[in-house]
Amino acid sequence: MLSQLTEIRLGEIVGDAHVLTDPSQTVGYFTDWTGRYRGSAEAVVRPRTVHEVADVVRLCATEGVEICVQGGNTGLVGGSVPPGDRGVGARPVILLSTARMTDIDDIDEVGRCVGVQAGATVDAIDSTAARSGLAFPIDLAARETATAGGVVATNAGGIRMIRHGNTRAQVLGIEAVLADGRILRRWSSLVKDNVGYDLPGLLAGSEGTLALVTGVLFRLVSPARHTTVAVAAVNHVEDAIGLIGATGARGLTVEAAEIMTEAGVALVAEHGHRRPVASTASFYVLIELSGPGDVEEAVAELLDEASGIVDAVLEPGPARALWAVRESHTETIARASTTPVVKLDISVPIRALPEAFAELTAVGEIVEHPCRPILFGHVGDGNIHVNLLDVPEGDAEAVTARVFGIVAANGGSISAEHGIGRAKAAWIHLGRSDIDRSVMRSIKQGLDPQGLLNPGVLFG
Ligand code: FAD
Ligand code: MLT
Ligand code: ZN
Repeated sequence: MLSQLTEIRLGEIVGDAHVLTDPSQTVGYFTDWTGRYRGSAEAVVRPRTVHEVADVVRLCATEGVEICVQGGNTGLVGGSVPPGDRGVGARPVILLSTARMTDIDDIDEVGRCVGVQAGATVDAIDSTAARSGLAFPIDLAARETATAGGVVATNAGGIRMIRHGNTRAQVLGIEAVLADGRILRRWSSLVKDNVGYDLPGLLAGSEGTLALVTGVLFRLVSPARHTTVAVAAVNHVEDAIGLIGATGARGLTVEAAEIMTEAGVALVAEHGHRRPVASTASFYVLIELSGPGDVEEAVAELLDEASGIVDAVLEPGPARALWAVRESHTETIARASTTPVVKLDISVPIRALPEAFAELTAVGEIVEHPCRPILFGHVGDGNIHVNLLDVPEGDAEAVTARVFGIVAANGGSISAEHGIGRAKAAWIHLGRSDIDRSVMRSIKQGLDPQGLLNPGVLFG
């Protein structure tokens, strides 16, 4: 339990109205987006400024109170909610929400960057950038709720990663509160600044276990003036890879490259989205392309000459209806499954994609662990989102082990972009050596010696 004095002190720091303890107010914070991870905390604390965050953290460090930090709560690996199974004698925990920290500074149009508070959403950052003719290089279907702090903490990938890189590559500067309440601020829009360790790069991907991100200085980009979006139906993953590989020779730039399967397209079509093309096939590749000259004509020629294309459609960007078929996968799958979806975000080398798709789809035929696999993802990054539906609760670990075994056999990663969270903490040895994990623990020990920040995340 929080001591009454601590609760009073928290109210003095953030205002009593922003220390939530009534279950009717806190319940929404304690279940993650997938519905699989549920936790509890003594209070939800909603600071407005970095100094309020620092004072809250300093108080928690003194009182031995654990902190789970939450942004938009769209994370898919159980890292954004407090632990559920807290035994007798466990330390009290608060959930610190960045929901009130939504300031976005003026756009630096010359330096092409913008400073934002951690709770600013991806969509708000991009809309602000657009007013200056620029774009936020990170984009994902959760854009309306995923926050700056969350995408940094998970080092999110997203649909534009193939074009601009992951979130870490967009971070020019960071402001964060350390576990003892000190404020770290490395905030430089310099193109070149090579002094000391890359602390912003270290905090990107740290999933709230090393510090609380309170502000980010993000790189912005000039969006392509015209794009063409195409969906091509193919029966082999090799043809999808071949299509993407043929773009360069035509002077086309890949802005996005996604893959869907017939199972996923049929499901979203049942839920109100139009099928992208009239024909059915095993796979559907969505590519968004830009380039000099007449992009639409170049894409039409590309589609004419590429091998294995059963059917195709192309539209000028943004082609929202075509994108909606892809972007509605996550929500539709969550609704269609009779159990919380086993979501395994993995990657394999591009050359291993055909084999991996075949083996991962076959996971649904394991007699002793029946389930319904729906695969989709960022094929240009080798990133497959393996969604296993209708998995009996007792089977989740067995089917996860089967998937990760296939990934390891194909030289892949057990987490491509969603991070480790609580969901994959027990499996991290599959992706990191003993020495690697020992160095990670040394860094964690150095920055959070009491282990108060997001315990159970990343390290189990
Ligand atoms: P939360 O879910 O609130 O938290 C995620 C993690 O970050 C937790 O460990 C939390 O403790 C930590 N954290 C949050 N804020 C801070 C902070 N200020 N300081 C320190 N730690 C913090 N992810 C992708 O990578 N690519 C995608 O394409 C993608 N598409 C998605 C589509 C949908 C429909 C959904 C629901 C999710 C998708 N995601 C995707 C997953 C999710 O959106 C990302 O992981 C995102 O980065 C989470 O941001 P958030 O603000 O919701 O963070
Ligand atoms: C996506 O690419 O849509 C996300 O990563 C979400 C998911 O894996 O379901
Ligand atoms: Zn994704």
